[in-house]
Amino acid sequence: MPIEKVLLVEDDAVLRKSLESQLKQARYDVAVAPTIAAAQSALANDSFDVVITDVQLPDGDGTQFLQLFQNRASRPLVVIISGHGSVEAAMACMKQGAFDYLLKPFTPEQLEVSLRRASDYSQLLKVNRFLTEVEPDDLPSELIGDSPAMQELRGLIRRVGPTDATVLIQGESGTGKELVARELFRQSSRRGAPYIRVNCAAIPENLIESEFFGHERGAFTGAIGRREGRFVLADTGTILLDEVSEVSLSIQAKLLRVLQEKELERVGGNKTVSIDVRVIATTNRNLEESIAKKEFREDLFFRLNVVPMYVAPLRERAQDIPQLAKVFVDRASRKLGTHVPQLGPDCQDALLSHTWPGNVRELDNVLQRAVILSGGADTLTADHLRLGKPRASSVEAPSGPVLQERSKDFVWAPTSDLPTLDQVEKDLIFAALKKCQNNRTHAAKVIGISLRTLRNKLSEYRSAGYREAMLTRDLDDTLTEAA
Ligand SMILES: Nc1ncnc2c1ncn2[C@@H]1O[C@H](COP(=O)(O)OP(=O)(O)OP(=O)(O)O)[C@@H](O)[C@H]1O
Ligand SMILES: [Mg+2]
Repeated sequence: MPIEKVLLVEDDAVLRKSLESQLKQARYDVAVAPTIAAAQSALANDSFDVVITDVQLPDGDGTQFLQLFQNRASRPLVVIISGHGSVEAAMACMKQGAFDYLLKPFTPEQLEVSLRRASDYSQLLKVNRFLTEVEPDDLPSELIGDSPAMQELRGLIRRVGPTDATVLIQGESGTGKELVARELFRQSSRRGAPYIRVNCAAIPENLIESEFFGHERGAFTGAIGRREGRFVLADTGTILLDEVSEVSLSIQAKLLRVLQEKELERVGGNKTVSIDVRVIATTNRNLEESIAKKEFREDLFFRLNVVPMYVAPLRERAQDIPQLAKVFVDRASRKLGTHVPQLGPDCQDALLSHTWPGNVRELDNVLQRAVILSGGADTLTADHLRLGKPRASSVEAPSGPVLQERSKDFVWAPTSDLPTLDQVEKDLIFAALKKCQNNRTHAAKVIGISLRTLRNKLSEYRSAGYREAMLTRDLDDTLTEAA
């Protein structure tokens, strides 16, 4: 993260002038202040990456100055400069959170080293902040499957991963494009540097430019401070433009420029920032078709499609299904705290004959649901998969004595045509509680999960505010009583 704006606070006019010109020569954007009061007003009107300050100023000392930053959300890094007589004061500043200190006299190189360290550190902080804001990452660690298509893909990843080549990964939804992108990153020489994902489909049109490129303070209403865009966060690392087909033509033009020139401007700013990022993009739309419809720029397509990768739909590599299924069943059981069921022969057949329009994601969801519906049975049957029943307004009696018994009053909340897995799980839990007169120990046994898992689920529902979302009063009562 390059340091751009520096505030220099020094009362000695000669030293101030010389440091100012040195910093300007090194292409920093410099503001100067001779006193803490002047520094305060500069800070009120602008954002700075670094403050370089003398430890003794006419209206106070460094520690007092540092207190100004105490409660600010985004604070600049502070580099203290001190004479030999004030080493102790400089140490006190370090204890209060100053980033570094320099003893007078220091060379231009020493200052530059300190600023370069500040630059690395500030990128670390920003990437870290970004990563703790985004959704937790629960992708599995490896690409599963030994079909010829997967083997070929793995071979290509091995060859292209270590290079800096731009890769465009095409494939239907749910085929594993994101996993492929991650694997490319893992095998690259940039694996120690940031990996920043942008889900282009999830960011509203009016925010996407700022998300990509960042904005200056005051660029638009609500832009309180300067914010770095994801390209700058990814500097020296890798950026994943997930679902790149979804960005508008005007943003496509801006993306093209970044890819060509390797530089960008923040929204509302005029300073050009150079970046060094490796770009990986994914799309589940056929981009050639989008180009024909004039929805996607052909020149951007060529820029992205340096190395094309294609992830085949699951129906074209059915031989991967058993191996994937085993991993998904294991994982679902572990998550629920139940033992791991076997896949019965009819279940295997059903898995192999389904066409999987939602690809690997659908397989994962179906098996998670099956593990729940199996109620702790030793074997998963074709019935547990509920394939080929696109609309389930109510659940018919499935096989297995336990389920048969409790399924009579097990009704889906009609939230959508097809319930989500979470909904199925939740409904099942509430149905069991109702059936067992809210005896949680008994209910947990009926569904085949541990009491602790059941408790955790209930407290999850409570904290997620499901009470409001509950569609029937019955369920609301259940939740209250079970609490
Ligand atoms: N080969 C695989 N091995 C293990 N898990 C896989 C594999 N392929 C896909 N998955 C899993 O399937 C789910 C969907 O994968 P992913 O998100 O990468 O798909 P996608 O192609 O990016 O889909 P979309 O276009 O909808 O974003 C994820 O949970 C992923 O972990
Ligand atoms: Mg994806």
